[in-house]
Amino acid sequence: MDIARIALSRHTCKAYDPNRRIPAEQIEQLKTLLRYAPSSVNSQPWHFVIAATDEAKQRIAKATTQPPYASNAPKILNASHVVVLCARTSMDDAHLAALLQLEEEAGRLPTPEGKEMQHKGRSFYVNLHRFDIRDTQDWMEKQVYLALGSLLLGAATLGIDATPIEGFDPRILNEELGLCARGLTSVVVAALGYRSGEDFNAKLPKARLPVETVISEI
Ligand SMILES: Cc1cc2nc3c(=O)[nH]c(=O)nc-3n(C[C@H](O)[C@H](O)[C@H](O)COP(=O)(O)O)c2cc1C
Repeated sequence: MDIARIALSRHTCKAYDPNRRIPAEQIEQLKTLLRYAPSSVNSQPWHFVIAATDEAKQRIAKATTQPPYASNAPKILNASHVVVLCARTSMDDAHLAALLQLEEEAGRLPTPEGKEMQHKGRSFYVNLHRFDIRDTQDWMEKQVYLALGSLLLGAATLGIDATPIEGFDPRILNEELGLCARGLTSVVVAALGYRSGEDFNAKLPKARLPVETVISEI
């Protein structure tokens, strides 16, 4: 596979064909990309809400009715599926204990010493962000963006068009989906589906900074 060709040919879809649906089997593959995205110290501080019905997409589009977000509403409404990528609102001891337990159950921590080391190592980074840098929310949201990156490139690999969307009102979306009560907050949205003839961005050339500006080899 020529992955660079996919990076060059993918684009942010600006208009979707409302009649085309992503096959269920490919949705399962995209779910796997989200779940298996890497995260710092395997913290997995995320949750993904997937809207597949018109009603569910309408609920998400409520967060894009006001300017300057309104241009995103038709993307959300006409896409096949829409993912709301959420971050946790806390990195608490219960979550750390749950992570340790799942790693143990997966067979990654065969000795008590290994388990202790893993817990200490993860707690070091979690506490660094919690108490010293005091940027736990930003840190968790960075992990969510890694899942977004996996999703976008993976979708393009499957021939699925996508739109990453930061242009929405998170307060409205959090309220509509009851996210805060679940210890979650919306970070970024991804519309997924197939472009329509109105997708002007499909025909535009890419604009990227020169390679020597963005990459140094030492
Ligand atoms: C995190 C993020 C948020 C974005 N938010 C929006 C958005 O709200 N609406 C939109 O149409 N495009 C959005 N974009 C698309 C960018 O404008 C686009 O990725 C960039 O211009 C590069 O173009 P390309 O994706 O077609 O290569 C977003 C992209 C990213 C990565």
